Amino acid sequence: MTDTAEAQASLEAVLKDEIVRMYQEVADNPKGTFHFFHGREAAELFGYAPEWLGRAPADAVASFAGVGNPHERSDLKAGETVLDLGSGAGLDAIIASWSVGPNGKVIGVDLNPAMCLKAQAHAAATGARMECQVGRMEDIPAPADSVDVVISNGVINLSFRKRRVIEEIFRVLRPGGRISITDIVSAKQLSQSIVNDPKLWAS
Ligand SMILES: C[S@@+](CC[C@H](N)C(=O)[O-])C[C@H]1O[C@@H](n2cnc3c(N)ncnc32)[C@H](O)[C@@H]1O
Repeated sequence: MTDTAEAQASLEAVLKDEIVRMYQEVADNPKGTFHFFHGREAAELFGYAPEWLGRAPADAVASFAGVGNPHERSDLKAGETVLDLGSGAGLDAIIASWSVGPNGKVIGVDLNPAMCLKAQAHAAATGARMECQVGRMEDIPAPADSVDVVISNGVINLSFRKRRVIEEIFRVLRPGGRISITDIVSAKQLSQSIVNDPKLWAS
């Protein structure tokens, strides 16, 4: 490994720990203070339908940590297979499962096993069909050409290897598949002090 690759790998490991800590904290303590919108307030701000927020488990809504509304453009159809990258406490996956119905399938992917268990418990509580695979969006645990639609909400910005994530998305999508992602981009080059701060990167 070159010095640069080694430095990046070590920064990536620190970042992963901070990501696990931060989103676990949102899920375990949603009433805590965070410097990003979360929970019902965020979902309402991003235009989530009130009936979704009434129907989903209160804990999944309270733990929501997305940055937008990927359902606005996902145009999900009954019977489709959907992959939710970074499924967190499961709100987006649960909403997707209502759209694809009993003949469809929703697969969540999250690097934190505890979040996967939480999302599956939330989905089961509403009778939603969702399975969660523990894994990384940089190596998506799904076969090639197996998914109709990829959704993701506020997760790809967290990766050090965004190009790799996009390649993985294209690998798992079937020909003609679709992508509906909401995320954060910066129009300005971020300073090195921001880039090197795991806390800022993780949020
Ligand atoms: C912003 S939240 C996702 C919000 C979620 N869509 C919801 O409905 O609340 C971030 C989630 O992405 C997961 N995550 C972050 N980096 C990841 C990666 N490289 N691969 C897979 N999951 C990741 C975190 O563990 C966390 O649960």
